[in-house]
Amino acid sequence: MPIERTLSIIKPDAVAAGHIGDILKILEANRFKMIAARLRRLTRKEAEGFYAVHRHRPFFASLTEFMSSGPALVMVLEGENGITRLREIMGATDPAKAAPGTIRKLCAESIERNAIHGSDAPDTAAFEISYFFPGIDL
Ligand code: RTP
Ligand code: MG
Repeated sequence: MPIERTLSIIKPDAVAAGHIGDILKILEANRFKMIAARLRRLTRKEAEGFYAVHRHRPFFASLTEFMSSGPALVMVLEGENGITRLREIMGATDPAKAAPGTIRKLCAESIERNAIHGSDAPDTAAFEISYFFPGIDL
C-alpha cells in the first residue's frame, strides 16, 4: 500500500459543535499522521475556488456560504493508502447513509453540514494540498 498525503478539513459545523477532538481521535486511531494544520475561517472566494468543481451544482452557493461561515481546521494528513482510507473513515456524504462508526455518522448534521472533507483522488489531493499549503511536499 502506498503512503499518500491527502487534504482534509474539519468543517465549520464540526468545529462549532466541539468535535475537533473526537475527529482527531478517530484519525489517530486509524494511524493518520498530521503533516500540517491551520485553524482558520475561509473567505467566500477561497471556498469557491476550493469547490470550483461543483460551481454549476444547485448547492454551490449554500455550500460556499457554509464553508466560510466560521473557523475550519484545514489539514494535510498522511497514511497508507491515505486518500481512499480517509474517505472510508469519513463515511457517505449524507450522514443518513453513512456507515456506523464513520466520522459523518458520529458528527455530521446534514448532507451539507457534514463535518469533514477529504480529497477524492490523487490529482485532487495534489491540487487541494497546494491550494491551502503552497510549497509543501505533496
Ligand atoms: P467533500 O468534497 O466535502 O469531501 O464531500 P464529498 O466528496 O463526500 O461530496 P461532494 O459531492 O464532493 O460534495 C461536496 C460537499 O457539498 C455539500 N453537498 N451538499 N445539498 C446537497 O445535496 C449537497 N450535496 C453535497 C456537502 O458539504 C459535500 O460534502
Ligand atoms: Mg468531494
